[in-house]
Amino acid sequence: MTIDFNQPVEIAPGIFWVGFHEGSSGLHCNPYLIVDQDEAILIDGGSRPDFPTVMMKILKAGVNPKKIIGLIYSHYDPDICGSIPNIESIIDSPDLKIISNEENHMFITHYAASSKFVNLREINFEFSFKSGRSLRFYLTPYAHAQGSFVTFDHTTKTLFTSDLFGSYSRKWDLFLKLTPRCATCVQSKICSKTHEPCPLFDIFTFHQNIMPSCKALRYAMKQIDQLAFERIAPQHGSILDLETSRMVLNRLHCLDQVGIDKFGDF
Ligand SMILES: [Fe+2]
Ligand SMILES: [Fe+2]
Repeated sequence: MTIDFNQPVEIAPGIFWVGFHEGSSGLHCNPYLIVDQDEAILIDGGSRPDFPTVMMKILKAGVNPKKIIGLIYSHYDPDICGSIPNIESIIDSPDLKIISNEENHMFITHYAASSKFVNLREINFEFSFKSGRSLRFYLTPYAHAQGSFVTFDHTTKTLFTSDLFGSYSRKWDLFLKLTPRCATCVQSKICSKTHEPCPLFDIFTFHQNIMPSCKALRYAMKQIDQLAFERIAPQHGSILDLETSRMVLNRLHCLDQVGIDKFGDF
């Protein structure tokens, strides 16, 4: 089936990919919109230049932006937070919530002017829609920001991991499915079987550059390993099905040369 990437894509019931991909950029962003009855939540909403396209996708998903009650930010980078002023002005509600970890709020506050800040600890690491549908948050400190966390949607068993499981994606598709052979493959830039760019190589390189250390990445993988997810939806790269997620998780758990570890012992 061919997917029209100019449209929002429903990746699971009530969850829309509202990002876009342009070929020249290896690092495109994946904001996600969770729609539950007459409420919606935007996850890692995107940069300022991405805003017009993301907002158009939200409208194409049939969601009035005023129905967005909360914005989840897994950390404070500009590629996820840059559009906060635009989002605030279009929603124009004093009740709009920015949901994040308090370690992130001290930086996110520099983007936001009118939203209410909600700390994860205050809500006991769980957000509930009026319907009872709930999102649970798990901390992944220093992967890659001090206050980073992942968001788990119980209803669809989708795990939103932000930069974790992201990729530079030289060759991109919205969904990535690896073959069992990839589990043990010695990664190289070009796959010896398909002669295409190796998606694992792009994922590993991304983590080696973005994550601060092997220890931080291993800790995050240990937390995520315990969760009963069925798909992983990262903020860069592709959405991974269960089998592919588990394979990538196992490989990331023992990835070396991550961040400062590239410098060896000193
Ligand atoms: Fe980031
Ligand atoms: Fe990012």
